Amino acid sequence: MLAGRRIVLGVTGGIAAYKAAYLARRLVEAGAEVRSILTEAGSEFLGPQTLAAITGNPPIGSYFGEPDVSPHTNLARWADAIVIAPATTATIARLAGGISNDVLVGTVLAAQVPVVVAPAMHTEMWEHPSTRRNITTLEADGYVIVGPDAGALAGGDSGPGRLVEPEVIVAALDAALTGDLDGWSVVVSAGGTREAIDPVRYIGNRSSGKMGNAIATAAARRGATVTLVTSAAPPDERGIDVIPVESAQEMADAVWTAAKKADVAVMAAAVADFRPRDPGTAKLRRADGAPEIELEPTPDILAGVAAMEPRPFLIGFAAEAGSLDGAIAKATSKGVDLLVGNDVSRAGSGFGTDTNEVTVIEPDGTADSWPVMSKHEVADRLWDRIIEMRRQKGSL
Ligand code: CTP
Repeated sequence: MLAGRRIVLGVTGGIAAYKAAYLARRLVEAGAEVRSILTEAGSEFLGPQTLAAITGNPPIGSYFGEPDVSPHTNLARWADAIVIAPATTATIARLAGGISNDVLVGTVLAAQVPVVVAPAMHTEMWEHPSTRRNITTLEADGYVIVGPDAGALAGGDSGPGRLVEPEVIVAALDAALTGDLDGWSVVVSAGGTREAIDPVRYIGNRSSGKMGNAIATAAARRGATVTLVTSAAPPDERGIDVIPVESAQEMADAVWTAAKKADVAVMAAAVADFRPRDPGTAKLRRADGAPEIELEPTPDILAGVAAMEPRPFLIGFAAEAGSLDGAIAKATSKGVDLLVGNDVSRAGSGFGTDTNEVTVIEPDGTADSWPVMSKHEVADRLWDRIIEMRRQKGSL
């Protein structure tokens, strides 16, 4: 699971920092790409050159004086997971408080990936009420806390507070990177199709592909194998097999092929319902006057997937303007397991926006309206719902 994964290793100031060198080594041996952040105090215990030699990249120590003008956001985007080992009380407190005045905490706050924290400190510090409070906060915020162990500590003391062994941290990272969609095969359609009028012009729509991109990205991050069939710009996310298409016909061919071996199909694309019957090979000329363009229906991609035997768990979308009555009708008539309706005429919802306000509707008409949230949040909530429904159906 660690092979090919991008790990940011944060090393803070404690004597256990020497073990971070072993940890870096284990991660590299497991096939991970490692970049490190060494805090100022951390560099008192472990030389930057040691981390550079093991990982192949010099550690970052500060926001400033780096060739990269925004090291925290770039590392955050690059990372599949972050591990902080050892994590001191001060770093734990800053993480709990969101105090990003060092590049390590800044990177964690800018990231949307699993974060494993391996504390190491004296027993009294570990048991101090402030540390207890902060650890409770980190757990509630979704951090994975690993350790500490009990055993020999610096200065001849002994008790809880010892950094867990590198192998234990590697196992915790491995588990954190194993998503709840691990082993799922998923196909997502996205964007608005373009139906040729002539070699230059097309009939299109306002879909940006952002919702479909968010759904594909969330699925990939949660461990699924993802095929994204899209007519829009794909997301900058590894692990997604992108099939670029233009027309409804091309989208249909690609989706139907992928859907045959998919567990779940999410049809987020805005597919043109009609296309010019005869686009021709020559450009239409103004001098020839206003053309009469005869239209014919495009293939109904969703219906094609719904008719498959066996078929994947199927999610349809319905962009409606004004009322969601049409979406409710589609949920019951289109042979889907779930339909996501949204009113594209509302602010903060629909084409081109980064947020969406959707109503998810089951085939029996049960509707659940979600508040306005980012398309990424909608995507994650949708996958939570799909997991729940597949469990109920006994397919998991
Ligand atoms: N869809 C499809 N193939 C088409 C048209 C639509 O697969 N040729 C899919 C969309 O990706 C979406 C769902 O069908 O998941 C509903 O799309 P929508 O355009 O709302 O459905 P229509 O039946 O075309 O309804 P309307 O008459 O409102 O356009």
